[in-house]
Amino acid sequence: MKTVDTINFSGKRALVRVDFNVPLDKKTFAVTDDTRIKAALPTINKILNDGGSIVLMSHLGRPLKKLKEDGTVDYAKHSLKNALPAITNLIGREVKFAADCVSVEAFQLSANLQVGEVLLLENLRFYKEEEKGDAAFSEKLAKHGDVYVNDAFGTAHRAHASTTIVANYFDKNSKVFGYLMAAEVKNAEKVLHSAERPFTAIIGGAKVSDKILIIENLLERANNILIGGGMAYTFYKALGGNIGNSLCEDDKLELAKALIEKAKAKGVNLLLPEDSIVSDKFDAAANTAIAASNNIQEGWMGLDIADSAIAKYREVILSSKTILWNGPMGVFEMEKFQKGTVEIAKAVAESTSNGAFSLVGGGDSVAAVNQFGLADKVSYVSTGGGAMLEYFEGKELPGIKAIGI
Ligand code: 3PG
Ligand code: MG
Repeated sequence: MKTVDTINFSGKRALVRVDFNVPLDKKTFAVTDDTRIKAALPTINKILNDGGSIVLMSHLGRPLKKLKEDGTVDYAKHSLKNALPAITNLIGREVKFAADCVSVEAFQLSANLQVGEVLLLENLRFYKEEEKGDAAFSEKLAKHGDVYVNDAFGTAHRAHASTTIVANYFDKNSKVFGYLMAAEVKNAEKVLHSAERPFTAIIGGAKVSDKILIIENLLERANNILIGGGMAYTFYKALGGNIGNSLCEDDKLELAKALIEKAKAKGVNLLLPEDSIVSDKFDAAANTAIAASNNIQEGWMGLDIADSAIAKYREVILSSKTILWNGPMGVFEMEKFQKGTVEIAKAVAESTSNGAFSLVGGGDSVAAVNQFGLADKVSYVSTGGGAMLEYFEGKELPGIKAIGI
């Protein structure tokens, strides 16, 4: 990949697309998880150490889609100014702020940047042109820098103005990837194309429909696929099991059956969780019991994998040399339904300490390894949710294509 290493930024102004779409506290709007900001620091520091200046641009949330009850845009909640204190702290120097990404004032601020100075532009998605990939808007953004750096892996699956179209307005030697983008791609490639075997993919989450394409692509590559989370019950129902009130996508039963058949035909060991922690309510204080996942009573629902499933999955994970994990095993936000995800996280960490390569990606599974303090015990934690998923579905991400590997 053509990275920032190919450029000496001395005297240059870099326009850096980062993914600072970070979670904020509901009341104070302070950053509650700064992982994505930290992940951009190596690129930022390289440019500053070279003697360059930086214009940072990002989106935050979906302001034009998530309107206030009165139908207006919630500017306060979606302002990147909310992230400014965290960004300033982490970079360790003053960061200027432009209250609109393409105003006259914003261009004055970026034009006057001195060596070592950093400017953050306001949320790009306050303009509908951003998500539309509008050419005129992209051309304007391009005026903020001499060099374009894309380090926003988390948004690389969007063909938006700042992630993709803006690259058209820089010549081929003036657009590069940041270190985060390079690391994400290197680690994902390693799993997709040069996985040491056995290669086990752990796929969880609520819906089969979100994971069809990744499972199909992994059927071509993995030795084992371990299924967890709500999606497991759609598979069990497809096999004729009783799943009580568990989550189920009735329009995906045929597809679930087809995936099981395909796994058989390809010799891929696709495992479903034998047993489940079941509950009579979707509630942290509900009654719980253990049941075979294919024999759950009416009125009860599976909300986590249980001990036999954990033991089986653990055994597979510990015998693996490459592990990909996307999606939790249960409703780990509630303590009663946390054990499956915790135990799988521990098994992945243990296997990693025994020499396996492990990559964890996707918002919920990353939140889980962070919550359980295991993030530094796996080989790589991706900053991408949707982007990571699309990469593993085998898609070419527009943000990567725009610069070219
Ligand atoms: C993410 O968090 O998924 C990325 O920042 C992309 O955001 P989006 O899903 O709103 O495009
Ligand atoms: Mg997303």
